[in-house]
Amino acid sequence: MGEFKFPEGFLWGGATAANQIEGGYKKGNKGLNVADVLPGGKERYETLMKSGFDFEIKPNQYYPNHEAIDFYHRYEEDIALFAEMGFKAFRMSIAWTRIFPNGDETEPNEEGLAFYDRVFDELHKHGIEPVVTLSHYELPLHLVKEYGGWRSRQVVTFFDRYAKVLFERYKDKVKYWMTFNEINSALVMPINGLGFSIEKEEDRYQPTFQAYHHQFVASALAVKACHDIIPDSEIGCMILFAPVYSFDSNPDNVLYALKEEQIFNYFCADVQVRGEYPSFTNRFFKEHSIELDIQEGDLEILKEGIVDYIGFSYYMSRTEKKVKSPEDATQGNIIGGVRNPFLEVSDWGWEIDPVGMRISLHKLFDRYQKPLFIVENGLGAFDELTEDGSINDDYRIDYLREHVKAMGEAIEDGVELMGYTSWGCIDMVSMSTGEFSKRYGYIYVDKHDDGSGTLDRKKKKSFFWYKDVIETNGEKL
Ligand code: BG6
Repeated sequence: MGEFKFPEGFLWGGATAANQIEGGYKKGNKGLNVADVLPGGKERYETLMKSGFDFEIKPNQYYPNHEAIDFYHRYEEDIALFAEMGFKAFRMSIAWTRIFPNGDETEPNEEGLAFYDRVFDELHKHGIEPVVTLSHYELPLHLVKEYGGWRSRQVVTFFDRYAKVLFERYKDKVKYWMTFNEINSALVMPINGLGFSIEKEEDRYQPTFQAYHHQFVASALAVKACHDIIPDSEIGCMILFAPVYSFDSNPDNVLYALKEEQIFNYFCADVQVRGEYPSFTNRFFKEHSIELDIQEGDLEILKEGIVDYIGFSYYMSRTEKKVKSPEDATQGNIIGGVRNPFLEVSDWGWEIDPVGMRISLHKLFDRYQKPLFIVENGLGAFDELTEDGSINDDYRIDYLREHVKAMGEAIEDGVELMGYTSWGCIDMVSMSTGEFSKRYGYIYVDKHDDGSGTLDRKKKKSFFWYKDVIETNGEKL
């Protein structure tokens, strides 16, 4: 037991994304999206990081998101398992291409809408509140190929239409929404969120920040529409937050870490939470020759569409110094940095830092004074299915316990936190590596990196641990 208490009504649960769990990639008239053309295995990470990706399906490649874990057909069984753990909330996303297969149609696809009706009904049957991301790395492929993804201003109109269709259709079923998943991650991986690949000789800043501007306008329009159509709704932004530490007390390194934090961690959230570009924008834009095309009325739209809460993912901190040698680099951290000697790493080299979660909660609450929602956190690890059929994932329990404690401490410190939906409550396809073997779940899925497996579900040891945590509202850890 800690020195803390979680508030009544705290939203305990788990988080997923349509493209990583659903499968059924052509079922119910669904169109193809960005995730459908991302290969599995080693190729995945390279594809996300390199320039010049062509967004084509290749005959000799395996595409794990096509079948994923088949939530499309097994959602009833999965939701029953979430209910057994006592979930109060389930974070999921809607695949834009189930609703508008190409993205630019004027009429939605009824089969897609009906699928999510069934999912929401099933969740409510078990008293679980859906928390829905409008866009989680699932941009329609047609918008990528014909419009250049979020480079194009036209995509704002298509997204606006899509968002309004969802709010109208699900206004009685969904209260909690989020706009773009990890919007700031596009600075590192534009393919996922922005739907374009940097061209070989092109500087990444100009297209990325112009595309961000389009997403900011789209996000603000969605926030406004959500409030108009569903008056008691709450809609948040969603950022990838990895607090940036200075490697040492050298002021040059401290300043470098601060600037990295501003541009990566805060830039997008500042616009979405405060409704205006932050004070460091002009100088940064000048130094990087960025010129934004801002249309008349855009700045007013941003002001009118500020979010109600800040959703964020927390997996790791990042340690920085101004001048780095290649030997300093971390092995796995997705957004780079140098190796922090005080931290252990996961099987995939991600630095494990529960204190960093408490620091993140403080940083965000100090800056914005808005409710926070941790909508992703977890340990991607190899799991072993033992002969008796059990999966003893004590390492995952240890990881989660320390992070839940850090959250409890931050709440005790005065931070306002709405909930915690840990990532990958059921094993699924990894976003960055396309592997099934990078498992996060409380529920094991029999599916493997070569595509084999029965898709059977099994409860891991952490399943029972999390059930107790929820049942006791964080008292029993
Ligand atoms: C977040 C994404 O970056 O991290 C998820 O929003 C992703 O989609 C999660 O799955 C964990 O990353 P990975 O690469 O281990 O799946």
